[in-house]
Amino acid sequence: MSSINATTGDLMLARELGCDTYLLHHPLAGSARRDFHHVLDRMIELMVLNGAPEDRAAEAQAGLRRRLRFHDHASDWDHLASAAAHIGISLVNVHLPADELGRLVMVDALRDLTPHSTLEDARKALQRIPELAHPANEILLVPDDPSRPAGRVAAMHAGGTNGGAPVAECLLDHARPTVDTVLYIHIAGEDAAKIEARAAQSKSGSVIVTGHFASDAIGMNILIAALESEGLTVIRHGGLLPFVEHATTHLPE
Ligand SMILES: [Fe+2]
Ligand SMILES: [Fe+2]
Repeated sequence: MSSINATTGDLMLARELGCDTYLLHHPLAGSARRDFHHVLDRMIELMVLNGAPEDRAAEAQAGLRRRLRFHDHASDWDHLASAAAHIGISLVNVHLPADELGRLVMVDALRDLTPHSTLEDARKALQRIPELAHPANEILLVPDDPSRPAGRVAAMHAGGTNGGAPVAECLLDHARPTVDTVLYIHIAGEDAAKIEARAAQSKSGSVIVTGHFASDAIGMNILIAALESEGLTVIRHGGLLPFVEHATTHLPE
């Protein structure tokens, strides 16, 4: 069985349905939970990949990394792992590799944008990805101005989590070549407000927010399809099944 999140109840459901293994996306157990802040190193690599100077990238990410470092320390990293051991089911956590697969799909979807493309063009391009086109998924624009130029888009998915306003502003202000739009899969409202405040001062730069669960499902669905091609049976659970149904029945033009 596979899902984006899982509780002890989901592990019980998997055992009830005869599964041997639980494939979980979010890092909720063991060292994946306890050492999560180390994944934030990948955010710096992604920023550099998109043209940000490494020292500025590290500076922009430092506050978030510090928050997560202490958050990890306070986390309950054993509960789900312990439940899996009691139930006798294998728990496998795949977070970053699945997100990286999703990021590559997004980069590919945005490939045909031109220097004249707008945020609405970028949104439409992303909606060619079946998971993102799901009727329950909303792709948000920050600021909410579809006619704003999209320019060069930095896809900041697979960096652990979103980098908030500091990482977005670092890319918008310091990346060379210039980044005009930062793609996140989610962002806090307060950080979105900071990006809107910039735009209100006639500064360039926007954020596209693709939707958390639909975006996470992209990479997990690729991973699951690969497992199935190896002959494994995978039951798609929370956050995955509706997107797969949609992929085969309602592909946008
Ligand atoms: Fe993810
Ligand atoms: Fe996620």
